Amino acid sequence: MPGKRVYPLILALIAAMFVIAACEEEVIPTQEPVEFHPTAAAPVERLGYSSEPVAEAPDSAEGDAANGEALFSNCSACHSTGDNTVVGPGLAGIYDRAGSRTSLDADGYLVQSIREPGVYIVDGFAALMPAFDQWSDQDVQDVIAYLKTLN
Ligand code: HEC
Repeated sequence: MPGKRVYPLILALIAAMFVIAACEEEVIPTQEPVEFHPTAAAPVERLGYSSEPVAEAPDSAEGDAANGEALFSNCSACHSTGDNTVVGPGLAGIYDRAGSRTSLDADGYLVQSIREPGVYIVDGFAALMPAFDQWSDQDVQDVIAYLKTLN
């Protein structure tokens, strides 16, 4: 009876399909692209730092200058804490002149300088500063609190 010989063959085929399916199950997860989900709040936060004037800038009094000094290692390749130019302007006294750079107040200007440096380019300099737009508000406030100490 040919039917009886075909039956085990079909069973073997089905078993083989299970094995293949099992193998595929192991492979698929590693092929899935790793998706990075930034916090949902990030784009909303950035709205506050658009090229529009920041109506109410966060207060740098909230910042931790000691942490800001540590964070300044991200800046010191291009900025001295004195008057001398490295790649960017020396940042001595920056907090005092920050408020007269644009229509923003000192805190607003510094937040924008750090998050969106391309919006206002200091005279005589090239737009070489990277945007620190992934930094938390706290880190930005901390580094501004440190800048405030530079006289
Ligand atoms: C790759 C070099 C580079 C790095 C790194 C960098 N900056 Fe700058 N920065 C510049 C340049 C060039 C300018 C001037 C052009 C401009 O206005 O964007 C500037 C301008 C500024 C200004 C405006 C100064 C003024 O006199 O108005 C501030 C404030 C500032 N940077 C702060 C920072 C801080 C804080 C960091 C680190 C978190 C940092 N920068 C990192 C290159 C850099």
